[in-house]
Amino acid sequence: MAATAEHSTTGSTTPAYYVSTPIYYVNDRPHLGHAYTTVAGDVLTRWHRQRGEKVWFLTGTDEHGQKILRTAEANGVSPQEWCDKLVEEEWKPLWQHLEIANDDFIRTTEERHTARVQEFVQDLHDKGEIYKGGYSGPYCVGCEEYKLPADLLDGAAEGEKLCAVHKRPVEWLEEENYFFRLSAYGPKLLEFYAANPDFIQPASARNEVLRFVEQDLKDLSISRSTFNWGVPLPWDEKHVLYVWVDALQNYITAAGYGTDPERFAELWPASVHLVGKDILRFHAVIWPAMLMAAGLPLPKRVVANGWLMVGGEKMSKSNLTGIAPTDLTSHFGVDAYRYYFLRAIPFGTDGSFSWEDFSARYTSELANDFGNLASRVAAMVGKYFDGVLPAATAAGTAEQAVADGLTVAVAAADRKIGEELDFAGGIAAVFDFVKQVNGYLTEQEPWKVAKDDSEEGRSRLATILYTAAEALRATAVLLNPVMPATAEKLWASLGADAAGLGALSAQTVATAADWGRLPAGATVTKGEILFPRLEEKPAA
Ligand code: MSP
Repeated sequence: MAATAEHSTTGSTTPAYYVSTPIYYVNDRPHLGHAYTTVAGDVLTRWHRQRGEKVWFLTGTDEHGQKILRTAEANGVSPQEWCDKLVEEEWKPLWQHLEIANDDFIRTTEERHTARVQEFVQDLHDKGEIYKGGYSGPYCVGCEEYKLPADLLDGAAEGEKLCAVHKRPVEWLEEENYFFRLSAYGPKLLEFYAANPDFIQPASARNEVLRFVEQDLKDLSISRSTFNWGVPLPWDEKHVLYVWVDALQNYITAAGYGTDPERFAELWPASVHLVGKDILRFHAVIWPAMLMAAGLPLPKRVVANGWLMVGGEKMSKSNLTGIAPTDLTSHFGVDAYRYYFLRAIPFGTDGSFSWEDFSARYTSELANDFGNLASRVAAMVGKYFDGVLPAATAAGTAEQAVADGLTVAVAAADRKIGEELDFAGGIAAVFDFVKQVNGYLTEQEPWKVAKDDSEEGRSRLATILYTAAEALRATAVLLNPVMPATAEKLWASLGADAAGLGALSAQTVATAADWGRLPAGATVTKGEILFPRLEEKPAA
């Protein structure tokens, strides 16, 4: 597609911050692991949106291949029926429930995808990047991946080989199919990684890819002819395209590749592909090589997250905790759910989930540190100033320290969440500020100052409460990408919109640090409790 390559260099449109999640296999319903990557992508895009940038967040479903076909057959329905049902009844509703603000949802069975995929591979075929050959080797249907000897474990039976990820026997494939000249791209890829040291993150993921590509890359088998649930090769319809080569292209087909050059120029290359570390090679080796072959620009970053673990193993369909995302949200609420996984597990490393840890963080961080601060401040403005926010007429060094703390928190959170994808660190920076404000109130003791009816006493009390409310104003903005419903409640309770600041969504990260934005005179109301006391843990 020469047209797209031309348009990507016009430079007439402002690029958008484009974040993608992997597109998920619909052989089963979504679990905590899928939700983990999707929530991270949502927080990242909401953060950039809050910066005032144009953003685009894409998620979707991967619907072709043998794994889906076999699942549908086992359930006695056609693969398309199976996919339609799972997408509409499981995947889309969960993302909606978790407040995922994706701008598009791509399904690989949609015509807008399959037609472009055919053009893309035809183009590679025309360029001589694809040739016919024979393949024989092990394949794991669970991974939908051709395996190398190093990826296999010995099984119990003589000569049996197991996939190291799924611990299930691999299948021996022997067929004539088409190959992509991946081997030709090794040196170009290494050159690209060297010139773009931030392309693969974290460093452990980058090293793994470098080690892999430094060995000789083999050509990639990209077609199958023993089943037909896939995109037919345009020049040989007896073959369907290998599911990964089909799936990876979702990132460009959804962005207007081949149909909407202007939109494509605005969106492509993607800013961040979020992936689990299990699918790193596809995104950091095969996908860039395919794009190079097509003459398209490469994504700016591929960031691998670690695994949610259960009993020391990756959480997966066959290895679940028995806890669905909705079991947690019905107990802790959606916002606490979004908060917990990003706060508790440093992004990029593996982490275990535990109900006890979640409860402990909920109570100490969300309910006590943050929720109580919000309700105490609103209650005091109600009690001492009839709910009308007073002006800070006697601000001194203690108040300056709070304002300075905010400046530090905004800079740290913006760098960590917006740039480094260190969600845990960024959220911690905001909560350090919340702790600072709690400490400020403990020191200033407004409940004691309230007993002093003199003008000086009133002015002191007004200053303390203004300072705390203003700190909450900024906190609402900073936590909005992580906990949107809670931030909205806080914004409403501060009366910020009606007092002239406008909607929470219209606030920017940069102005969050402008001390004194919340106008005195705002109507502060107590509103509902942000993080109610938890019920007993439901019986397993
Ligand atoms: N369909 C492919 C991806 C194609 S992208 C062009 C696929 N799908 S998947 O449904 O099996 O898993 C996709 C992603 O879900 C993983 O890479 C990861 O981002 C996320 N996770 C699945 N299980 C996970 C954990 N236990 N922990 C963290 N993330 C996990 O692979």
